[in-house]
Formats: sequence, structure tokens, C-alpha cells
Amino acid sequence: MSDLKFEIRAETSDDQELIENLHARAFGPGRFTRTAYRLREGVSPVTSLCHTGWLDGALVASIRLTRVKIENSVGLLLGPIVVDPEFASQGFGLKLVNEAVEASCKDGFSWIILVGDAPYYEKAGFEKAAPGTIKFPGPVDPDRVMVLALQEGGLTGVEGLLSPVRDE
Ligand SMILES: CC(C)(COP(=O)(O)OP(=O)(O)OC[C@H]1O[C@@H](n2cnc3c(N)ncnc32)[C@H](O)[C@@H]1OP(=O)(O)O)[C@@H](O)C(=O)NCCC(=O)NCCS
Repeated sequence: MSDLKFEIRAETSDDQELIENLHARAFGPGRFTRTAYRLREGVSPVTSLCHTGWLDGALVASIRLTRVKIENSVGLLLGPIVVDPEFASQGFGLKLVNEAVEASCKDGFSWIILVGDAPYYEKAGFEKAAPGTIKFPGPVDPDRVMVLALQEGGLTGVEGLLSPVRDE
């Protein structure tokens, strides 16, 4: 367990290289072929919602969110989230998820979707999407599709094909 204080900051343009290095270490080259990666391709993350985690002046964690839509409903795709393996299982990942959820809610978004391990994201209030309701534009294990409504009724009637919201 680290005695250092974990500090969450808004992501800045200076962090890009450090974050990319962390992604390369945690995900490896396979990350470029994932459906979630392809959905984010050519789309800028929502800067105000992206955060970094720091320990003693070192960037050790990052979370990003990207605008997506399901048919006509605009929401957010959470990811990638990454914590330096050296500092795993100290609660930093969940702190980042909770921060991102709070910021997204404040910004007025209605829902967040992600592809990930249910037992982990359930800790942050996500639940498995009802089978067959959301289609991805590529292969995704349906058992790993998790959603969170940020406003009351935020996911009501939200069904269909997930697609990126490209930068204007
Ligand atoms: C997944 C990841 C972000 C978790 O970050 P972390 O800081 O290690 O996680 P936390 O410390 O917040 O975890 C809190 C709890 O969740 C558990 N947990 C962590 N990863 C889990 C997983 N994949 N499935 C289920 N539980 C998990 C921890 O054991 C811990 O449990 P505890 O509170 O009972 O001890 C981190 O392991 C990581 O960067 N992995 C590689 C990249 C990746 O797979 N990212 C997710 C897909 S984009």
C-alpha cells in the first residue's frame, strides 16, 4: 500500500505522451483492434471529463470519456481507464471512475456506456445492459456491456446501434 497521496487532476495537453505510454504498457498493441478503440478513433475525448491520477508528481492513472450516440441519444463511452500496474488495487481506478461519473452528471449527460468487467464497474453503480438492446459496430462480448443512467430516466428508450459522435 502506498503512503503517498493520490491526487486527481483534469487532463491537460502536457499529459498526452505520459498517458499514451501508460496505455502501451497496460494494453499493448492489441488495443488498436478493439471495438471500443475503433469507436474512439478520430474522435476527441471530452476534455472537461478526462482526468489523470498522480502520486508524488508522477502520472499513474488516466480516465477518458468520448461522446457516442445510440441512435439519436447522445451519451458517453467510458474508457480507456488505466492504472499503473505498480499501483493497482489501491482504489485509484474506482476513484477515477467516480470522479468521471460525477463530472459527466454535472455536465448534463444522460448516460455512460462501457465495455468491461461487470464485478468491477458494478462497484461504481453500472449495470449490465439488457441483452440485445445495444448493438456495437464490431465484436463485443454482450456480457461486458455496462451502462449507467446519470439522470432519472436517462436510459429510457435508449436502444439500437452505438456509433461515434465525430468532431465537427
Ligand atoms: C482495471 C483497472 C483500471 C483497475 O484499477 P485499480 O486501481 O487497480 O482498481 P481499484 O483499486 O479501484 O479496484 C477496487 C476493487 O476492484 C477490484 N478489481 C480490480 N480490477 C477488477 C476487475 N477487472 N474485475 C473485478 N474486480 C476488479 C479490486 O480487486 C478491488 O477490490 P477490493 O476493493 O475488494 O479490494 C486497472 O487494473 C488497469 O489499469 N488494468 C489494465 C487496463 C484495463 O484493463 N482497463 C480497463 C478496460 S479500459
